[in-house]
Amino acid sequence: MNYSEYLNLPKLLALQHPRSAPPEHDEMLFIVIHQTYELWFKLMLHELERIRSELSAGDLYGSIAGFQRVRTVMKTLVAQLDILETMTPMSFTSFRDRLDTSSGFQSYQYRELEFVLGYKRPEVLKYYPPDLPGHAEMQKRLREPTVIDHFYDFLAAQGAKIPDELRRRDLTHANQPNPQVQDEILRLYHDRPDLAILFEAMIDFDEGLQEWRYRHVKLVERTIGSKTGTGGSPGVDFLKKSLFLPAFADLWAVRVRM
Ligand code: HEM
Repeated sequence: MNYSEYLNLPKLLALQHPRSAPPEHDEMLFIVIHQTYELWFKLMLHELERIRSELSAGDLYGSIAGFQRVRTVMKTLVAQLDILETMTPMSFTSFRDRLDTSSGFQSYQYRELEFVLGYKRPEVLKYYPPDLPGHAEMQKRLREPTVIDHFYDFLAAQGAKIPDELRRRDLTHANQPNPQVQDEILRLYHDRPDLAILFEAMIDFDEGLQEWRYRHVKLVERTIGSKTGTGGSPGVDFLKKSLFLPAFADLWAVRVRM
């Protein structure tokens, strides 16, 4: 075994196909950065799967370490946007037509991440019809318990009373914030400093996700202004709507009472 074989390098390095003719220099950057994001999304899904099992197994240290890792990946994703911001709007315009209707909007791994984190929106499934990649993955994720459902297992094992309707909820819907869960989290924040470390690691990750949304919308604004998106949305105005959307709403809601 050698380095190239182990990493499947010849295949990996043959996957970048700029479409501009004559070639536009920055199209390679655009492709490489999106492919890199998809690899990090893949890793995050892998890590979140382990975090879910660790939460249900009551593994405090494992889940803290897991959230610290995905938080750090999130920070890297945010920082990587700096590289794309070295591309001018004119440069992007020179090859934007080559994207046709393709858009980050159709990143099925990003949607998987949203579903795994509890933000399930069955209406996004229309972007993944049976003949397109991502269909099977989205269907599977739609029916799976989310990180938040596994977090309920964790809280229950620490003596928290989780309302029955949450334990028996329809998994194909988004998790909703719940006042009783918030009371329990607040109590644990006060009584259990060890658990507070996990809660803060979750908030760190969540803040990273919101940072990504902010940096992405600013990147979009400086690159295409108020143009509509290649995916067909109104662009910046559409993206602004989800700017402050938390993943772990209960953990944010208790802060005003601390
Ligand atoms: C010049 C760079 C970029 C531009 C102009 C841009 C533009 C946009 C626009 C306008 C949308 C809204 C949907 C649409 O109508 O297309 C969008 C969504 C999205 N973009 Fe980008 N984007 C850029 C870079 C990136 C990068 C590097 C990623 C990393 C994977 C990314 C991931 C996404 C995702 C996941 C969405 C869906 C967001 C959601 O639905 O909340 N974009 N992008």
